[in-house]
Amino acid sequence: MLKVKLIVFIVSLLFHATNALQTRQKHVIDLTAGPIWTFSSSNGSITGRSIPPGDIYSDLAANGIINDVLKVDNDVAYRWVAQTDWIYKLDFEANEALRNSDLIRLDFDGIDTVAKVYFNDLHLFHADNQFLEYKVRIDPRQLRQGNNTIKVKFASPVKYAAKKRDAYTTLKGHLVPPDCPLEIQHGECHPNFIRKSQASFSWDWGPSIPTVGLFRPVYIRYAYKALLNAVSPAVLPEGDHFKVAVDVDVDCTPFESFLMTLKTQLFIGDTSIDTMLKEQIFCPANGTFNRTISFPVSRSKISLWYPNGYGNATVYLLSTKLTADNYAISDQRLNYIGFRTIELIQDYVDQAHPSKGRNFYFKINDIPIFLKGSNLIPVSALGKPHFDDAHYLIDAAKLANMNTLRLWGGGLFETDDFYEYADRSGILLWHDLMFACALYPTDHHFLKSVSSEVELQVKRLRHHASILVWAGNNENEVAIQTNWWHVPHYNKTEMIEDYKVLYRDTLAPIVKDLDKSRPFLLSSPSNGIETDAVGGVADVPNSEKYGDIHYYNEFIDLWTESNYEIPRCATEFGVQSLPARSTFLDYINKTEYYYTSEATLHRQHHAGGAATLVSMTLSHFDNPPFSSNSTSSKFIGVFTYLTQLHQAIAIQTQTEHYRRWRGRLHADGRGNTMCALYWQLNDVWAAPTWSSIDVNREWKPLHYYARRFFAPVIVSMYLDTDDELYINVVSDRHDLVIKGIVIIDVYLWEANFTPIATLREDVYLNGSGSVQVFSPDFFTMYTGEDDDAPNKYLHRARLVDANNEKKLLAPVAFQPPRKFFRQHIFGDAKIVKLEKRTNTKYTVTLAATSIVPFVWLDLTDSFKKDYKAGFWFSDNAFMLVDETIEVQLNFYQPPNGVSITDLTVCRLDTCGL
Ligand SMILES: *[C@@H]1O[C@H](CO)[C@@H](O)[C@H](O)[C@H]1NC(C)=O
Ligand SMILES: *[C@@H]1O[C@H](CO)[C@@H](O)[C@H](O)[C@H]1NC(C)=O
Ligand SMILES: *[C@@H]1O[C@H](CO)[C@@H](O)[C@H](O)[C@H]1NC(C)=O
Ligand SMILES: *[C@@H]1O[C@H](CO)[C@@H](O)[C@H](O)[C@H]1NC(C)=O
Ligand SMILES: *[C@@H]1O[C@H](CO)[C@@H](O)[C@H](O)[C@H]1NC(C)=O
Ligand SMILES: *[C@@H]1O[C@H](CO)[C@@H](O)[C@H](O)[C@H]1NC(C)=O
Ligand SMILES: *[C@@H]1O[C@H](CO)[C@@H](O)[C@H](O)[C@H]1NC(C)=O
Repeated sequence: MLKVKLIVFIVSLLFHATNALQTRQKHVIDLTAGPIWTFSSSNGSITGRSIPPGDIYSDLAANGIINDVLKVDNDVAYRWVAQTDWIYKLDFEANEALRNSDLIRLDFDGIDTVAKVYFNDLHLFHADNQFLEYKVRIDPRQLRQGNNTIKVKFASPVKYAAKKRDAYTTLKGHLVPPDCPLEIQHGECHPNFIRKSQASFSWDWGPSIPTVGLFRPVYIRYAYKALLNAVSPAVLPEGDHFKVAVDVDVDCTPFESFLMTLKTQLFIGDTSIDTMLKEQIFCPANGTFNRTISFPVSRSKISLWYPNGYGNATVYLLSTKLTADNYAISDQRLNYIGFRTIELIQDYVDQAHPSKGRNFYFKINDIPIFLKGSNLIPVSALGKPHFDDAHYLIDAAKLANMNTLRLWGGGLFETDDFYEYADRSGILLWHDLMFACALYPTDHHFLKSVSSEVELQVKRLRHHASILVWAGNNENEVAIQTNWWHVPHYNKTEMIEDYKVLYRDTLAPIVKDLDKSRPFLLSSPSNGIETDAVGGVADVPNSEKYGDIHYYNEFIDLWTESNYEIPRCATEFGVQSLPARSTFLDYINKTEYYYTSEATLHRQHHAGGAATLVSMTLSHFDNPPFSSNSTSSKFIGVFTYLTQLHQAIAIQTQTEHYRRWRGRLHADGRGNTMCALYWQLNDVWAAPTWSSIDVNREWKPLHYYARRFFAPVIVSMYLDTDDELYINVVSDRHDLVIKGIVIIDVYLWEANFTPIATLREDVYLNGSGSVQVFSPDFFTMYTGEDDDAPNKYLHRARLVDANNEKKLLAPVAFQPPRKFFRQHIFGDAKIVKLEKRTNTKYTVTLAATSIVPFVWLDLTDSFKKDYKAGFWFSDNAFMLVDETIEVQLNFYQPPNGVSITDLTVCRLDTCGL
């Protein structure tokens, strides 16, 4: 049965030659990213070789034992993988320097998840939490000359969770819902009983891939007498300066005494702020002690850190060095820190009428920030750290004018590299703790484990300028209050009590104690301080008048603005679409590429989603150019594009609705909306999901729309149910005075490029806010009595500088009709020129015969088969109302060469055919 493909591994263990002096210096041996481990099933029937960090699915595939788990229905075919116990093993030779050390530590930056770890057959510890680091001392006497062995014996996460659930149910006499995911998710049960990415047991956007393995690096660190453990800087504003407090945990050789020098250096330009602590240490019996080094940093010395769109995201390097006695450097840690203040404002919108609710918005460096962005699910369903993908996604967020990503509670704490890249990119992170859409146990072991996890992660991450806020969980409060689950012997009162024990009484104090540089919220959505005031669980957690909301509805017209709520802050809202054909075909059999195929339905994890996607989409596209026979490949080709347009316009409508409520209050107190984070940025597999970028890095139309609707200044139109057109100008620029003119061109689909009417209106806006520009009754000027009239016109809005009408102050906006008719005759667009500008940038020239709706530029499937690094156009999924237009084509990495025949262009009635 066993088919082992021979793999070429690059290096074996590289141990440095040493001399006497170096034995007193810092030494790190990376046991991952090089050394070859072996793995085997616990009964020995399957074996292979591995270079962690990674996971068992990737290792089995690399050894030719299974295929790619992301393909066809392998997520279900390979269920046995996560039901098997696995052993990972590394033999290594200890060099002389290591053998001569008095202080040796084995550091696991992460273990996924349940494992017993052995060193030379000595049991070291038992791991059961993916979100913990495990750092253990190794007694130098345990080291062998020559061969040493590290063995990690993993237990099946699926069986472990089931065992824990059974024991808990027996003990408490009730289930902790949800006991299992919905059937349609093909998932595993009881993720709430294992501290592991909750989505790894399946989600409505993703497969069940309960990874097992060493998903983060493993190191041996050794030193002379003392070694750094945790180095945790905290940056807090204090009057006219910032205080940097670096908490340092030190490991030392018990009962040894030595002169410790602890030195921090903050590098600012050519200089540094140095702080030193010298102290004679007598190492205690437990081999650990801690110190804090604090120093002030004057505001005049540094530049503040700003989120994307507000200034530079400036970070500074902070070095922390530990030296024992007077020898060379013993150990050093590097962190990047930024200086900024964060306030969460929650005052009453109307002091005289508290029942109108409270504001809910963040100020950074005293500037109110409208949070614009999306929700991030794990960067990958598999274990290997995906630095490239993380950078790609953060870059793509920035390109779409986002300033915030929500790191959602069903996933993972990400790698250090991820947070550093977010810091540098000015992308704020709304950071959930890792609990989502479930209730959780509250026994002693569980509470202890999650307390350690939260303590560790907050200490690890608090210095990152990008982290905006911690939130205790995703949707667990609203789940209880809206009765998501009913289980015997566990009523709502008891659920609420357990909820409070976990989040309010256990985790909140830990976060608030360790991190005073950002706010903490109990849940998302929640009512903010109103939730705290009522003891942690509000009657209506999804209130429009307090805190944040999540909003989904597939039974309303998502292109109609008046269907939406008017919240303070929207942290989730979205609608599905299908991924690009080229993406789907990388993962499923071509014969299965139709909408109602087993393969497509297998990947639709949203209950009722297959049907609602059809009804929602086709409600806006009359007589689409395909047979209604969903088994034809023509249907899915065209339908893919239509779902993507439906999604883009729905999210545009909703986002601009929220942005238009910036700085405006309804008479009942709703309004002052300050966040729009749509669900979801990315994908982990090819499937119908809510993402704006698919798993092959392809931008869906929504991502291009986001680039426009998240621009700092927008001109925004919407067609109300009364068939009137409303036009607002919205600005997030507190520092900008807009003296502009809004120019509206009204086009008839059937006519040429000449508008049938043009209207102009002056607009003035000082600072951030939203102003309505046109009076609602202007539309009746030309629609007459025809019921379908609004659908016959296309409106273009441009905001130009009053003193220079050539200067656009916002992206050009189009208001599409509510419904598209196939019988309209559209213009044709052609690519007439492709010019290379740089290795990664090309200019594409398009020519059109008359108005072209929803121009979609793409690369051919065959080009995309060889080039997977990602690309984007400066604009796409737009209305073309000009004879020619130039668009930039950007590649994430230089392609081998591009010619005009690698490009395609289509429009509403031709895409997907
Ligand atoms: C190391 O020792 C293990 C047994 O503990 C043995 O299986 C393995 O072959 C040895 N490796 C080397 C390189 O000697
Ligand atoms: C280790 O021992 C020292 C001295 O007895 C004590 O101050 C410290 O709190 C102990 N640390 C831990 C983690 O127990
Ligand atoms: C130092 O360690 C002690 C004992 O573990 C702990 O109570 C204290 O909070 C630690 N101080 C810092 C600054 O980490
Ligand atoms: C931002 O950084 C750029 C490049 O380093 C610099 O030229 C510019 O002055 C900075 N802007 C601000 C507002 O500090
Ligand atoms: C919920 O259960 C508890 C304990 O069994 C009981 O005291 C309480 O009355 C119940 N509450 C409701 C609303 O049924
Ligand atoms: C694709 O499906 C066809 C028809 O069911 C089958 O004959 C073929 O083997 C499949 N190909 C792959 C690669 O699974
Ligand atoms: C739908 O299309 C498929 C393949 O194109 C064909 O085999 C089937 O007969 C069609 N069904 C109907 C009801 O037209």
